[in-house]
Amino acid sequence: MRHDTSRENLFPWFRTIDDLTGLIDWSEFYGNSNPVELDVGSGRGLHLVTAGQSNPHINYLGIEIDYKEGRRAAKRLKKREIANTRVLGGDVNRAFNNHFAPHSVDAIHVYFPDPWWKRRHRRRRLFTDLFADRLSRTVKPGGLIHSWTDVKDYFEVIQALMDHHPGFEVLPPPEEREPLHDLDYQTSFERKKRQAGETIFRGLWRRKST
Ligand SMILES: C[S@@+](CC[C@H](N)C(=O)[O-])C[C@H]1O[C@@H](n2cnc3c(N)ncnc32)[C@H](O)[C@@H]1O
Repeated sequence: MRHDTSRENLFPWFRTIDDLTGLIDWSEFYGNSNPVELDVGSGRGLHLVTAGQSNPHINYLGIEIDYKEGRRAAKRLKKREIANTRVLGGDVNRAFNNHFAPHSVDAIHVYFPDPWWKRRHRRRRLFTDLFADRLSRTVKPGGLIHSWTDVKDYFEVIQALMDHHPGFEVLPPPEEREPLHDLDYQTSFERKKRQAGETIFRGLWRRKST
């Protein structure tokens, strides 16, 4: 993992997982009891900025293992003074295991997880049965999991894991819509891939109540 060496103080928009102790109390973390949504592997933060600005009554947390990218996203949030949106630098699996309380968040977004193309690297992929279990344990009953990718075979893996998981039901995915301007995409990767003419696969699942 890369270390956070930059000098600019981005708190509270950016903090690292090493700054946390125990389970996050979301109302303490954000200073309100609004719903919380996670953006796993938030990258440069386009989704965080757009969603945070559009939905001031939802709290967003991006989790990004690459501190440089996480800080870059946090700078954008700080510049726009988006108070309901933060970035956590660290490995999301560590966060799921140690810092996210069971059934404590309203939605989890996983956009364009790294595909790890080479066969010998496939086991580094984020989506596994254990990861689907972590999603199921963390999201509230009725909460949503959104996952999009341009990688067809990875999407098939994600679908197989999520569609057959006892904790989830499949919902119809959102339709593709034409962007109104250059930043009108769900994420930076969606923009890059759509501009390159790639097909985007979109998945949506709801946590069952039992
Ligand atoms: C292909 S990029 C997609 C970024 C963004 N979601 C988008 O759609 O533009 C995948 C991101 O996931 C991050 N990532 C990979 N593994 C992670 C992990 N275990 N915990 C947190 N972030 C992770 C990478 O550093 C990278 O920024």
